[in-house]
Amino acid sequence: MSKLSIMAYTFGIVFFLVSCSFASFYGYKVVTHDLPKEEKIVKKYQYHFVMVPEELDNDYWRLVEKGARAAADKYGVQLEYVGPKQANIEDHVKTIEMSAASKVDGIMTQGLSDEQFTPLINRVVEKGIPVITVDTDAANSRREAYIGTDNYYAGYLAGKELIADTKGKANVAIITGTFYANHMQQRVKGFQDAVKEEKGIHIIAVEESEISRVKAAEKATQILKDHPEVTAFFGTSALDGIEIAQMVEKYQKQNQIYIIGFDTLPETIEYIRKGTIKATVVQEPYQMGYGAVTMMIDLINGKKVTPVVHTETRILRLKDLPLSYQDRKVEIR
Ligand code: BGC
Repeated sequence: MSKLSIMAYTFGIVFFLVSCSFASFYGYKVVTHDLPKEEKIVKKYQYHFVMVPEELDNDYWRLVEKGARAAADKYGVQLEYVGPKQANIEDHVKTIEMSAASKVDGIMTQGLSDEQFTPLINRVVEKGIPVITVDTDAANSRREAYIGTDNYYAGYLAGKELIADTKGKANVAIITGTFYANHMQQRVKGFQDAVKEEKGIHIIAVEESEISRVKAAEKATQILKDHPEVTAFFGTSALDGIEIAQMVEKYQKQNQIYIIGFDTLPETIEYIRKGTIKATVVQEPYQMGYGAVTMMIDLINGKKVTPVVHTETRILRLKDLPLSYQDRKVEIR
């Protein structure tokens, strides 16, 4: 080998090693936090906020994001929407920690569990970064404010609706998002409290879907097999009702089984139109996102904000859909 080629070879190796160490040092940050150049932020935006949802591509969270982006565009906020690809508490926590480390002006996220989120939120707030909880509150933390559904009340409403629709006689299986999350526990508790005085209502199973469509379908199938006495389902997170409906149709039990779900995603509405899902609990994800951003701006500007803002919650049934929609013969699926 000539002297020149030895030098070129050595230079190549050194260059490669240096690039690798840069990539591994900054890699995670670059992937999860696609921060624009600092200069751009300074010129274009007044604030830099991060929203960390439970699951990035979940249709429900995309609506929260849409609302947040509308407010962000209006008020000159650089908004990053980052979080787990699939619901995962460790990734969720890590993303909040990374956002706090990059010293953003405010963080909007769920207060999923007291154990993991309360100390974390407190640490972030102590660093001087305001936190607003959205959709799920960590009421015992030092978060500045919460905007979202009153989850206990929402579960209670679902229970009362089920009693009315089944004339007080039902064997109910509940499929809930996760057992550990505050809002899911509150929805289940509200439901249990609403039906507890009803002699004819029995809760025969409570299972968790882990916010996964596949798991929700598996759990629904299992319940249909293990509990032939089941006559009603309550799905407490956005995708649960959809998957329950799919399984109930698969086993052709639409006429025997009553379903009440959560949220108003297009698939849920389509199942209501078909009559497979009888009712759903309406949440206002767009409002949550929009309101969280405006509240954060107010906080930063030293304005007083209402610490707990409950967005509207109500029940939606076939008769509440516009007539044109009820008659529609086109199917989304
Ligand atoms: C909940 C969200 C959850 C989503 C899951 C919604 O009903 O409010 O917290 O992430 O369902 O699909």
